[in-house]
Amino acid sequence: MPKIGDIALPDFPLLLAPMEDVSDPPFRALCKEQGADVVYTEFISSEGLIRDAAKSVIKLDIYEKERPVGIQIFGAELDSMLQAVDIVEKSNPDIIDINFGCPVKKVVCKNAGAGILRDIPLMVKLTEAMVKRTKLPVTVKTRLGWDTNSIKIVEVAERLQDVGIKAISIHGRTRVQMYKGEADWKPIAAVKNNPRMHIPVFGNGDVDTPEAAVRMRDDFGLDGAMIGRASIGNPWFFKQVKHYFKTARHLAPPTMEERVEAARRHLQMAIDWKGEKLGVFETRRHYTNYFKGIPHFKEYRMKMVTSDDAADVFAAFDEVLEKFGDFQFA
Ligand SMILES: Cc1cc2nc3c(=O)[nH]c(=O)nc-3n(C[C@H](O)[C@H](O)[C@H](O)COP(=O)(O)O)c2cc1C
Repeated sequence: MPKIGDIALPDFPLLLAPMEDVSDPPFRALCKEQGADVVYTEFISSEGLIRDAAKSVIKLDIYEKERPVGIQIFGAELDSMLQAVDIVEKSNPDIIDINFGCPVKKVVCKNAGAGILRDIPLMVKLTEAMVKRTKLPVTVKTRLGWDTNSIKIVEVAERLQDVGIKAISIHGRTRVQMYKGEADWKPIAAVKNNPRMHIPVFGNGDVDTPEAAVRMRDDFGLDGAMIGRASIGNPWFFKQVKHYFKTARHLAPPTMEERVEAARRHLQMAIDWKGEKLGVFETRRHYTNYFKGIPHFKEYRMKMVTSDDAADVFAAFDEVLEKFGDFQFA
């Protein structure tokens, strides 16, 4: 069974990927309830944390019920990253994760995120210093390389392991690919097959069906799957994959009642966390996916995504259940 430091995990754990504006505490809690074995926060700027920028600091909030939880930080300045480690530790997460994979221009141009894949010695130096700074297990999330001509992930993963990281998650694309094409899991399997590797190697990218998770486990021999987009609006995905692992059968899709209940709880947790105004606003983006596939749904979706008043949104959920309660999801 894989372990991240002292954190024992089940066979082939499923990890919720860090996702900006998605992997917030309410969503992480829902995914955890549905079987995610480890959850990660969205990336948090080390510079933002040091400036005490409210937007960054609120991202450090974690609920007890979502443990084990990793807080992910990004940056490329040694001093800032070390100070950020000290700040993150105060929130008492189970894991500190370093983002060496974000492909966005404003991040990579500062050498942070996937930008650091052009400077492996800096990547190793930063990681080593961060590992030394904390007693918490440090994990890394990265991509295959900067571009297809510079894929050195086997060597990179080994060097990061040798400076003390406790697990690595690898997205099977390069920075240049962004999100295009298909994720290539072969180089990730090469990392796992390196006889010197002894930390867990988690695969990431395009695990969007239970069958894909089985392939990642059985054909590529990875230690677990990190799941991103397939969970957006579908926290049940973790349960669906685990059910398929056990039975080789697909779990029935969640009923309308379960979907409405999830939407209600999501909204309530968001309100409890950030207050009514922000809670209502930030939960909007999740509804489309919760209720995907229902014909003539626009009127109800509009009610959910245009009202600033939580009572109106809760009332819209009741209406949806009343009107579409018997709808059979494919
Ligand atoms: C909306 C969104 C936000 C993301 N934000 C982050 C982030 O904050 N940190 C990170 O390491 N990766 C981030 N990613 C990348 C995902 O963690 C993951 O690597 C990628 O989506 C591929 O996995 P998937 O095919 O399962 O979605 C983000 C992806 C999406 C779609």
